Amino acid sequence: MPSIELSPFPDVIQGGMGIAVSTWQLAKQVSTNGGLGVVSATAIDSVIARRLQDGDQLGDIRRAFAHFPNQNIASEILNSYFIDGGKEPEIPYLDVPKLSLKPNALSVKLLVISAFSEVWLAKEGHTGAVGINALEKIQLATPATLYGAMLGGVDYVLMGAGIPTQIPEMLRELAAKRFVKISVDVASAKKEYLLNFDPGLIAAPDAKLSNPKFLAIISSHALAAYLAKDEKTRPHGFIVEGFTAGGHNAPPRSKDSIGGDGQSKFGALDEADLSKVAKTGLPFWLAGGYGTPDNLIKAKELGAVGIQVGSLFALANESGFTREIKDELLDQIRTGSLSVRTDPYTSPTGFPFKVVEITGTLSEQGKFLDRSRNCDLGYLRTPFEREKGGLGYRCPGEPIATYEFKEGLALDAERSKCLCNSLMADIGLAQIRADGSSELPLVTLGSDLVGAKELVKDYPNGWSALEVLDYLHDVH
Ligand SMILES: Cc1cc2nc3c(=O)[nH]c(=O)nc-3n(C[C@H](O)[C@H](O)[C@H](O)COP(=O)(O)O)c2cc1C
Repeated sequence: MPSIELSPFPDVIQGGMGIAVSTWQLAKQVSTNGGLGVVSATAIDSVIARRLQDGDQLGDIRRAFAHFPNQNIASEILNSYFIDGGKEPEIPYLDVPKLSLKPNALSVKLLVISAFSEVWLAKEGHTGAVGINALEKIQLATPATLYGAMLGGVDYVLMGAGIPTQIPEMLRELAAKRFVKISVDVASAKKEYLLNFDPGLIAAPDAKLSNPKFLAIISSHALAAYLAKDEKTRPHGFIVEGFTAGGHNAPPRSKDSIGGDGQSKFGALDEADLSKVAKTGLPFWLAGGYGTPDNLIKAKELGAVGIQVGSLFALANESGFTREIKDELLDQIRTGSLSVRTDPYTSPTGFPFKVVEITGTLSEQGKFLDRSRNCDLGYLRTPFEREKGGLGYRCPGEPIATYEFKEGLALDAERSKCLCNSLMADIGLAQIRADGSSELPLVTLGSDLVGAKELVKDYPNGWSALEVLDYLHDVH
C-alpha cells in the first residue's frame, strides 16, 4: 500500500466530466493548486470545432495550435472550422466526421489536435500534473485522442464506463510511436474487428511524447483484481467510483435492479470491498459522494490516497456548464429543491445515468417527446454486424424506425435520449435546427450533495476551483 505522507500522488483528483464540463480552465486551476486537474476527452473534436466556429474569442485554441508539432495539420483544421469573429448565432455548426472503424484522415487529425490543444492549455504556465478522462465505451476515438493528449504532455489517463483491458498496452505502444491496433466490440460479430491508428499519419517524427500513468475507473473489487493480475492490463492505480457519482454509473449487480420509483436500484452488492482493492497493492482514490473534508480524511483512513470529486467542480466557475445552468443548480441546492434521478434508460449506452430534473430541459418527458430525433454527432453509435453481413453503426438515441431497421430493439430506442446533443447544449455549444430551434440541455450531477450544500452557504453565487480545494483541505 502506498505511504500516504510520502505519496507522489495528489490527494484530490478533479473528475473528468464530459462533454467539456471539465474544461482546460478548470483542470488548469486544480493542477496549479496541488490537485490533479483532468480534462474530458469525450467528443473533444466537436468541442474544438465548435469553439473555433464561435471565433475562438480569446485566441486560446490558436495559441495551442501554434505549438502543435505538425503545422500543416493545424492549418488544415483552422481552414476547415475557424470563423473569424464567430458564426452568426442562427447558423448551425458544421459537423465533424463521425467516428468509424475506417476513419477518414480529417477525423483522425482533428481528434489528435483537439486532445493536444485541451491538454496543452491545461498544462500551460505551471508544473502541476494534468490528466485526461475518456470513456471506454467510445472506443473508436481512443487511440487518436490519447496520442494527441500525449503530444500535449498529459501525465495521467483515466478511463471508465467499460473494462479498459487494452489501454495500458496501447499507451506503451503509443509512447514508442508504434502502429496501434485495438480490438473493437462489434455486436453480433462473427469475426474480430480491429481499429488501426498510425502515429506516422501525424508525421511529427521529432515530437516529444509523455508517458502517462493510467488510472482505471472501476466500481467493483473483482474488476480491480482482474485488471491488476496481468502486467498487460495492470493500471497504475484505481478510482473506485460508487453509485452516487454524477454522469454514468455501473449497472446494478442485482437482477432486481429497478426500484418502485423507476430508478436504478443499488444495494450492498454494488459496494466495492476496499480491503480487496488495497490487496492489489496499487494506489486508489474514492469517488462518488466523497467531496467533503471529513470524507477526504475518511478515504485516507480506508487506505486510499485520496478522493476524486466531480459535482463540486462541475458547479465551479471554471467548469464548462453555462452560467445559466450553474445558477439554476445553485438555486435548487440552496432551496433544497434539487432532484437527481438515476435513470436506467436515458443513456444510449445502457448504463444508468444521473439526471437533474430541470424545467425546460430534456428531463421533462414532454420536451423529450417533442424533440425531433436525429443522430448527427454519433459518439455513442456502436458497430454491429448485419445478419446478411457487412458492418453498420447504430445508436438507440437515433430515430426509432432507423434503429429498428438496423436490427435494434424499438423499446431501447423509445426510452433513450440523445446525450451527445444535449450535453453539447449544457456547455453552450447547442446545435441549431432547420426550424431555428436549439437542442435542449440534459444536466447530470452526483446525487450526494452534502459538500455542495455546505459550500453554497459560504458562496451563494458560486465558487472557484481553488475554493473547492481549500474547502476539501479545510483551509480557512
Ligand atoms: C457533470 C458530470 C459529468 C461527468 N462525466 C463523467 C465522464 O465523462 N467520465 C467519467 O469517468 N466520469 C464522469 N463523471 C463522474 C466524475 O468524474 C466523478 O467521478 C464523480 O462525479 C464523483 O462523484 P461526486 O460527483 O459525488 O463528487 C461526471 C460527473 C459529473 C457531475
